[in-house]
Amino acid sequence: MNEHNVVFQPGNVVVAVQEGSTLKETMNDAGLAFDFLCGGRGTCGKCRVRITRGLTSPLTKEEEMLEANELNEGFRLACLTTVQHDLIVELPNQKSLQHNILIASEERVFQLEPHFHKVFLEVDKPSREAQSSDWLRLKESLIQKGYQDRALGASISVLRQMPDVLRGANHQITAVMYESNVAGIELRDSTQTMLGMAFDIGTTTIVGYLLDLYSGEELSVVSTLNPQTSYGADVISRLTFAGHEENGLTKLQDAVIEAINQLISQAVEKVSLTKSQIYGISIAGNTCMHHILLGINPQSIAVSPYVPALSETLVLDASELQININPAGKVFMLPNIAGFVGADTVAVLLSTELDRSEDIKLVIDIGTNGEIALGSREKIVACSAAAGPAFEGAQISSGMRGAVGAIDHVYYRDTLEYSVIGGGEPLGICGSALLDTVAGLVELGIINKRGKILDLEQVTNPAAQRFKENLIQFEGQGAFLLADSSITGHGRAIMITQSDIRELQMAKGAMAAGVRILLETYGIQAQDIKEVLLAGAFGNYLTPHSACVIGLIPFELENRIKMIGNAAGTGSKLALLSSSEFRRAEAIAQGVKFVELGSYPKFNKIFGECTYFTIN
Ligand code: FES
Repeated sequence: MNEHNVVFQPGNVVVAVQEGSTLKETMNDAGLAFDFLCGGRGTCGKCRVRITRGLTSPLTKEEEMLEANELNEGFRLACLTTVQHDLIVELPNQKSLQHNILIASEERVFQLEPHFHKVFLEVDKPSREAQSSDWLRLKESLIQKGYQDRALGASISVLRQMPDVLRGANHQITAVMYESNVAGIELRDSTQTMLGMAFDIGTTTIVGYLLDLYSGEELSVVSTLNPQTSYGADVISRLTFAGHEENGLTKLQDAVIEAINQLISQAVEKVSLTKSQIYGISIAGNTCMHHILLGINPQSIAVSPYVPALSETLVLDASELQININPAGKVFMLPNIAGFVGADTVAVLLSTELDRSEDIKLVIDIGTNGEIALGSREKIVACSAAAGPAFEGAQISSGMRGAVGAIDHVYYRDTLEYSVIGGGEPLGICGSALLDTVAGLVELGIINKRGKILDLEQVTNPAAQRFKENLIQFEGQGAFLLADSSITGHGRAIMITQSDIRELQMAKGAMAAGVRILLETYGIQAQDIKEVLLAGAFGNYLTPHSACVIGLIPFELENRIKMIGNAAGTGSKLALLSSSEFRRAEAIAQGVKFVELGSYPKFNKIFGECTYFTIN
């Protein structure tokens, strides 16, 4: 088969590919980061690239999704267009690929209790009179420090290093102990430092925290877009890819492990340390991310009754997973609760201490799959709400993730105002702006309770008249214009259409139904909740008032909402820095009562009611 050269600009990245490969496959091969929001299924229309040389006729699907002037200017969809000639392809404004990744969070007080301990040893040297083996003499030194002879063990990799390390350090070594095993040996006295890295593996982003395991100090923080996004934006598309593509699971596993290894390198380089000083890493991620990282087929999550392959804590050798830290290093996997309530939720509960709270609190992590937990130290109930991708900007006509160029907040003042992430010209709207826009329209009476954009004549609120220019018709449906094509970064208008409002209603309806069903299951009313804790990126950026106006969160709780940042990251750190917190994570996972929304008796009725807007 013929091979062609594709040149990607800016950067002049040249890739030779087989004829017939899609541009998406070509970009993946070249390692070019790109956001394929619908996973390359040709349904979101967001993977626009411009072909400046070698352009061929568009496919029917591209004609449906792109405007005539865009097609004429050479725009095509990277997931659909195949390479038939040598091509020059211009990638969109790279700024839009820079994602805002949430790394900050609330911290809490806890007892440091590392999984590893370092012990400095002066091991007896062998002599003609004392000819016992290296291992016996090393064990003898450990016994003198209080370790029990019978329990002591060592891995083969430690035993291999032992003769050289002992002699290279004049028999003054540091033993790194994991329980009663010698996990590593280091030259001379290295007891001052021991490192670990805590990871929060999100469907969209990965954050890693390099920690000093003795002091708990955070030495550096690194983050990246989860490279699996090239294979699908959400959990469902990853499950589909893992289950139906050839070597799909391996590709996803390799992608995440490579990203983890890159982050480890970046984190230690930032502070001039080395990977071999890292002995432990902890992992918090949703059940799908958890299974993929372990190379476990996640298909059981995808079909009823949606059970995970495993839900307990796990301690694995890092080398087994090809994670590049000290060869004796361990990976601490936090436990899952259910197929769609994973270790990331357990980490959030660990960090918020819901299991120790005297007051009843509601913890919400809003996303494509929103996780909701309600409870106190008495009991905790949790569910997962299939909100769909609207909050992340997918399936929304002008939607995009919360990246540079996204309108993130909208204000109805004398005129319509908005803020753009990173400043500059807007490229689209992200979930928080979608909420603000719709909430404002609901309050102005431009959108009714059922979500319909009214004709201006039907709007009775005089304040709404200020925005009458923004009410437009687009492709046969009502729409609200946020930014005219003359002021956007790509020359296309940014708006909210009637269909976008329907998408939002579905998403918020699912989340609100989850909250209502948990309240019913618990046997309390919304006003019994003392605090609403919003975890995760979306929760951190949304405007609480907007969330209450649209009914995502019960209105009476508006003043009890608190943003807690990347609480999953904090939970992951706790599990790494304290072995008792790691054990507590397992107790939390086992103690939470999971509520399956789909099989709740009145689910459809509750969901239908929850798609309406709350108008106070
Ligand atoms: S249409 Fe190409 S990624 Fe969605």
